[in-house]
Amino acid sequence: MEGVKHIMQRSENLVSKIEVRGTTRVCGLIGNPVEHTMSPLIHNTLAVRKGIDMVYVPFMVQNDQVSEAIKGAYALNVLGMNVTVPHKSAVISDLVSIDSLAQNIGAVNTLVREGNGFKGYNTDMSGLKRAMASDGILISDSDVIILGAGGAARAVAFLCATEKASSITILNRTLDKAEKIADEVNAVFGKECVKAMALEAYEQLPVKSYLAIQSTSVGLYPHHEEAVIMDVGFYKMVTKGFDLIYKPEETMFMKMVKKAGGQAYNGLKMLLYQGIDAFELWNHVPVDEDDALAVYQLLKENICV
Ligand code: ATR
Repeated sequence: MEGVKHIMQRSENLVSKIEVRGTTRVCGLIGNPVEHTMSPLIHNTLAVRKGIDMVYVPFMVQNDQVSEAIKGAYALNVLGMNVTVPHKSAVISDLVSIDSLAQNIGAVNTLVREGNGFKGYNTDMSGLKRAMASDGILISDSDVIILGAGGAARAVAFLCATEKASSITILNRTLDKAEKIADEVNAVFGKECVKAMALEAYEQLPVKSYLAIQSTSVGLYPHHEEAVIMDVGFYKMVTKGFDLIYKPEETMFMKMVKKAGGQAYNGLKMLLYQGIDAFELWNHVPVDEDDALAVYQLLKENICV
């Protein structure tokens, strides 16, 4: 509760700097629940810093009301929306068009107003790419290991295939789920770009310097002492490790990567850049490094406590 109070105070301070006028455009987030979202902090901070006449608000939308919410938002001249759990797939049938990456993934987190409805994007994945790039990691140069085969891992697999990673291997506790994702991605790209393996089979991986993207829920606060693989031998092959989790600030996966001599990053920059990508799509203004850093500091203060 303390955390939520803190975020609310920050947001109130920001909103007091936003002068809502007749011209002010509204953007918002639909999800269920939405109470813990950091997105108002990201977007209202950017709006103030960039001098853009926009305000961002959360909308709790019931699971059977998604269509009505999208139609209503368009009728209300809403400029853009973010979409969070559990509506990321449900919104797709209410869009007028969809970006190809979002279409392949089957999940949309950003809606951009167009002439006759909203277009859908997946800035979770464009944001992940940008977060990695900001730390000098290029997927296109990398042999990638994806840990996990849930919704997040599936999106990461499509991103890595789109970015033409040197190789992509999904490791998952349940092999079937990893195989299903590999089959789907390979079918879309018309070649065997993704391989699937059982988690414990990692010893059979060719010895290389891997970029490992931790896409399971293992290690999430308060389970900070858990990682999906605890064997130091695995981490000796990982030169860069990116955990989609950002709470705790340093996960066990990250600790293991660092202990074996690699560099490790958490998912907070992914959260930052999914927001920045959406803000840029709505407002057609670039967000520079200074603005990105300012928002990143605010996120750190509010999350990694
Ligand atoms: P999301 O949609 O957020 O990706 P998810 O679909 O529930 O979440 O997927 C969670 C992932 O974490 C799965 O890959 C899951 O492995 P299984 O497919 O075998 O269930 C993985 N996961 C969760 N707990 C795990 C654990 N204790 N050990 C290994 N993998 C685990």
